[in-house]
Amino acid sequence: MSQHLVAPSLLAADFTNLPAELAMFNESEADMLHLDVMDGRFVPNITFGMLMIDAMRKMTEKPLDVHLMIEEPERYVEDFRKAGADIISFHYEATQHVHRVAQQVRASGAKAGVAINPHTPVSLLSDVLEEIDLVLIMSVNPGFGGQKFIYRTINKVEQLKNEITARNLQVQIEIDGGVGLQNAEALLRAGADILVAGSSVFKSPDPKDSIKRLKAIESDRKFYI
Ligand code: DX5
Ligand code: ZN
Repeated sequence: MSQHLVAPSLLAADFTNLPAELAMFNESEADMLHLDVMDGRFVPNITFGMLMIDAMRKMTEKPLDVHLMIEEPERYVEDFRKAGADIISFHYEATQHVHRVAQQVRASGAKAGVAINPHTPVSLLSDVLEEIDLVLIMSVNPGFGGQKFIYRTINKVEQLKNEITARNLQVQIEIDGGVGLQNAEALLRAGADILVAGSSVFKSPDPKDSIKRLKAIESDRKFYI
């Protein structure tokens, strides 16, 4: 059985103490660091940009999973790659040219992900699945950490997993927003490969242990390769 990945989201970390947060992350069983870039246009919030990715690159050897919540992501793909992104996910709703931007991300040397908002059906991705490495399914409306998980998302994970399996593709499914021990098993069973966890890791009393528990979940997934 393929083991799922856990990606703690830096958004929920204590920004006054990043070296300690990164030390915890590095020592933990976490697989990669999820970094939420927000522009105040695509989403109401503003977070950080290339400088933060560059700083994180110097503080960990684990992959950097960059989630761009910015309008016209095509303007910045190469900059984020240069800053150290291993995976670049951009939003389906933020560009007119999803197929082209996916190719642009892959050409930069990063893995390409397309993120979809809760209202966007997974069926809209059918014609780009060959061009991408992962689909990031948002299970909250993007913009803020600590929101309530939208349960309908589990159906979307299952629907997409069925399509990926039926077409024998290698695309991974990442789930982001309100994810924790209370819903992780159902998500893995539905077909999620990567769990993003912000609050449920960094705001927990023992973040390293929370990561360990998320990694330890076993799911008798219906479809896996
Ligand atoms: C929300 C971000 C998420 C966020 C998740 O727009 O994309 O990555 O950090 O945080 P939690 O796990 O607290 O919902
Ligand atoms: Zn995110």
